Amino acid sequence: MMSLEDAVRNRRSVRGYLPHEVPQDRIEAILTLAQAAPSNCNIQPWLSHVVSGPALRDLGARLVGAAQDGVRPNPDSKADRTFTGIWRERQIDAAVQLYGAMGIDRHDRPRRDWAYRRNLEFFGAPHAVFIFTPTEFGEREAVDLGIYAQTLMLALTAHNLASCAQGALGLYPDIIRDHLGIAPDNKLIFGISFGYEDPATAANRARVGRAPLAASVTFHR
Ligand SMILES: Cc1cc2nc3c(=O)[nH]c(=O)nc-3n(C[C@H](O)[C@H](O)[C@H](O)COP(=O)(O)O)c2cc1C
Repeated sequence: MMSLEDAVRNRRSVRGYLPHEVPQDRIEAILTLAQAAPSNCNIQPWLSHVVSGPALRDLGARLVGAAQDGVRPNPDSKADRTFTGIWRERQIDAAVQLYGAMGIDRHDRPRRDWAYRRNLEFFGAPHAVFIFTPTEFGEREAVDLGIYAQTLMLALTAHNLASCAQGALGLYPDIIRDHLGIAPDNKLIFGISFGYEDPATAANRARVGRAPLAASVTFHR
């Protein structure tokens, strides 16, 4: 098994996958590892739905169809803030790296739209996990869900699998609830596509950096 440092450094968002599926026992081992994530009062507020095979293919078709038909996104958690200053600079840099790797000009709206729509097809991944939580939960439980999601992605990396966290998979929660038979009192936070990386996908050559320590951390004594 990979060291923690290697798992942290090797994990990155992968946006192109080979079609073959991960064996079910491996998926279960990874999700069992992710269950070890800490949470406030150990409430473990994550309700994960793993979707594969025809269910995933048909769901992708419904999501893409909704986007093509101009259905208004209706995410359970609104994230309509626009970034400014350093936050905006980092957002732009990530987009520049991604579209640069894909050879898409920033003014090429049709290709940018196509690249974004690939989110809704799970970037060709054979599996996606949708992370839900009861509607009554708020910010405090959202922290638990973030910790859980990173634990899950590191577990995937340690098993030599690729993943991509996708807020975009939270745009049409009503379709996803309907498709998977999930009750309306479960809200969707986001989804994570996962599987085997396709090394031939141009988007997978994108690398984003990180701010230096001093930009994020202050020491006091
Ligand atoms: C909560 C969350 C939501 C994200 N949503 C998307 C998304 O919808 N589509 C996408 O392509 N990447 C998405 N990302 C990936 C980020 O763009 C990526 O993590 C960031 O640029 C850092 O790159 P890295 O993951 O390769 O280290 C998301 C990441 C997180 C943590």
